[in-house]
Amino acid sequence: QWTTSSILDEQVSRIREQIGDGKAICGLSGGVDSAVAAALVQRAIGDRLTCVFVDHGLLRSGERAQVERDYVAATGIRLVTVDARERFLNALAGVTDPEEKRKIIGREFIRVFEQAERDLKAEGDYKFLVQGTLYPDVVESGGGAGTANIKSHHNVGGLPDDLQFELVEPLRALFKDEVRRVGTELGLPETIVQRQPFPGPGLGIRIIGEVTQDRLDTLRQADAIAREELTLAGLDRQIWQCPVVLLADVRSVGVQGDGRTYGHPIVLRPVSSEDAMTADWTRLPYEVLERISTRITNEVAEVNRVVLDVTSKPPGTIEWE
Ligand code: XMP
Repeated sequence: QWTTSSILDEQVSRIREQIGDGKAICGLSGGVDSAVAAALVQRAIGDRLTCVFVDHGLLRSGERAQVERDYVAATGIRLVTVDARERFLNALAGVTDPEEKRKIIGREFIRVFEQAERDLKAEGDYKFLVQGTLYPDVVESGGGAGTANIKSHHNVGGLPDDLQFELVEPLRALFKDEVRRVGTELGLPETIVQRQPFPGPGLGIRIIGEVTQDRLDTLRQADAIAREELTLAGLDRQIWQCPVVLLADVRSVGVQGDGRTYGHPIVLRPVSSEDAMTADWTRLPYEVLERISTRITNEVAEVNRVVLDVTSKPPGTIEWE
């Protein structure tokens, strides 16, 4: 019988065995998985762990500040922040294919970690890379027996072939609810443990079409409004997550003020789920949908239409790409 504390003890001793007296880097995203993975490794090897937060420019508003503030305060972990916005934007220029985007993002993450490893060289060899990979990430990337590649999660199928690090993935056998319990057992605050999932490739896979700075700014504004209204309505715990998607290559005619507009639609994708392997679309109250729609079309230039995704998983996946 697996209990949370037995998972924790077992993983801590496995990590110690794997890393020995070596040093590790952990990519921290602000999400639950990497936060729990880092806290587990910190428990195992203490300050021989350094966390790296990559600002790839595909983040939602406020995310970088939240990690720098909340996570460091809760764990005392050593955190290095890398501004890689230009690097990711350049690498993604002209790319529209979802799998290609995912592979580019996965590769660029590793390139940033390699640079961090070189920068830390004076302190010793950082040979290990900690990732918060979960069981569903492995399955959906085609890593399980008899499973098809549905999409390459950035930290599994999106890894480059010439990876130099040895991976440490203490959550690889776990589902999200188990990870949350381990996080609680490790003493992480609710604000981290109960966060809704957000994918590593971030807004890059929520812009349908090429990723550009302007499109990122548009989507970030729309996403912030949707999140604010869902939180105000007290719905955060009821929904698993609500991707907000910009259909950047689609335009439709609207009328705003006294003029014609020709703008882009925003899709709201609220879902309920246990483990992200399957999901149902969440029946949000109409009043909440109305407020989100009115605010987004009023406040975000370029967006003149808000649509609701009412597809379960399967047949749809949670993210659009
Ligand atoms: P899908 O779209 O496959 O998403 O139904 C299932 C869950 O996984 C998240 N997701 C990712 N998380 N890296 C991540 O860390 C990724 O590449 C990735 N792709 C999807 C998604 O947000 C949902 O919670």
